Amino acid sequence: MKKILFATSEAFPLIKTGGLADVSGSLPIALNALGHDVRILMPAYADLLAGLSNLPSKRINQTGGMVEIFETMLPGTTVPVWLVSHEGAFDRTGNPYLAENGKPWIDNAERFALLCRVGVEVAMNRIGFGWKPEIVHCNDWQTGLIPALLEDEVDRPATVYTIHNLAYQGLFPKELFQKLGLPQRFWSHNSLEFYDQLCFTKGGLVYADRINTVSPNYAVEIQGKEFGCGMEGLLKQRKDRLSGIINGIDEDAWNPATDPLIPNTFDLSDMTGKQKNKFALQKHFNLSVGNNVAVLAMVGRTVQQKGIDLVIEAMPKLMEMPLQLVILGSGEKKYEQTLKHWQTLYPDRIALKLGYDEALAHLIEAGSDLFLMPSRFEPCGLNQMYSQRYGTVPIVRCVGGLADTVEDTTPANLEIGTASGVVFHETSVEALLAATLWALDLFNKKPQWKKIQRAGMQKDFSWKQSARKYLDLYNLALQDRH
Ligand code: ADP
Ligand code: GLC
Repeated sequence: MKKILFATSEAFPLIKTGGLADVSGSLPIALNALGHDVRILMPAYADLLAGLSNLPSKRINQTGGMVEIFETMLPGTTVPVWLVSHEGAFDRTGNPYLAENGKPWIDNAERFALLCRVGVEVAMNRIGFGWKPEIVHCNDWQTGLIPALLEDEVDRPATVYTIHNLAYQGLFPKELFQKLGLPQRFWSHNSLEFYDQLCFTKGGLVYADRINTVSPNYAVEIQGKEFGCGMEGLLKQRKDRLSGIINGIDEDAWNPATDPLIPNTFDLSDMTGKQKNKFALQKHFNLSVGNNVAVLAMVGRTVQQKGIDLVIEAMPKLMEMPLQLVILGSGEKKYEQTLKHWQTLYPDRIALKLGYDEALAHLIEAGSDLFLMPSRFEPCGLNQMYSQRYGTVPIVRCVGGLADTVEDTTPANLEIGTASGVVFHETSVEALLAATLWALDLFNKKPQWKKIQRAGMQKDFSWKQSARKYLDLYNLALQDRH
């Protein structure tokens, strides 16, 4: 049995802004099920704490003031969660990273440096919990300073740093490096400095015993200029320590046969529920109800990464196709506004919900025919896996984890029954439109369509295999610890 401290800035269902929360809310459970002692460390955001009461806690003094660490469990599980509470850092409502104006909170460096410092104290068993991990598993920039700060500790745990999205690096002006009182030797391009800025991600990339990312394909992509976000040199240098492990999905939360968030459950043996969900979805959005026209859906952040700009550019042509478009998302205001504009032009063809809505995301997965993910880059992506599980055929660009998890509908794949979606290559409106046309064509060829749905629904996206790979990675990190 291994003792693992899992440090993260969000975990479902406590708090979620994206896929990191899904991973943090399910990988620890899978590791736990394999007999390991995993404990999550994350901030006690005000909204999160408001839903919990009477939690035991411990107080410690930290640079930056008094910190209280609450103890709870990941809801419905026996996985312990330590919530780091600090009045100045986490005691505010709203998005964990962004202020109401959509810009990062101005004190994000201080907030997440505090999380990292507490992470080190927990890792070194200096809080009084009587528990010392062998592994500290850090996730994305918010926890990136932990491997760096652990460097000097005697008898420290081994460290693993998972890149969920290399585009977010926790970059801050040089003054903050001074303000945070980080050891001077960290101010070097071989350490936390990145072109005269402080970079939290480099704490993980430079110092972690092992680095991984969330798909094998993205692990290769980030060693090149196109996807490396300036880190490609460093990653190439450490490539013997870098690997890719595909994310799993929470197969209980995302199970069409039992999902309490959808009106009609279904499975491969009886798909009538899916049909009913389509009608429910159409009704929900006041679209005309029927099965002749395909419902094409998108759920996700409306940002360039996800190719939302391509979809907007493709809109005139998409509206010439026999489809209804359903979009649930939030993100950059300019894209949100343009989508709104298109929705008012085509109120009976386009359904749009701006904002975050977990239950609606489930209904969309359950009720749509096609799911569009034209991402520019995608470290893993989860919705294409949810889609396949719900018999909703994904149309994806051949990038990152999308390429690793969707089998294109080539004649050969169709023949052997592995085809589970439509994959296109170029980042262009033309390629997106051609893929959509091909998918609509398949939608009308029922025997083929059923075969594609079946292949997707039968795929194993469980965490079990990936959790085992993480255990192998932890062993390698222990071997590599210096
Ligand atoms: P990323 O983490 O890059 O945003 P992922 O595909 O890994 O992308 O994960 C996104 C997760 O967030 C999925 O579980 C998706 O269903 C969910 N999600 C994204 N936007 C919304 C939204 N507006 N409402 C509900 N769920 C959303
Ligand atoms: C990031 C990536 C996404 C990935 C998620 C969970 O947010 O953008 O592709 O699925 O992390 O690892």
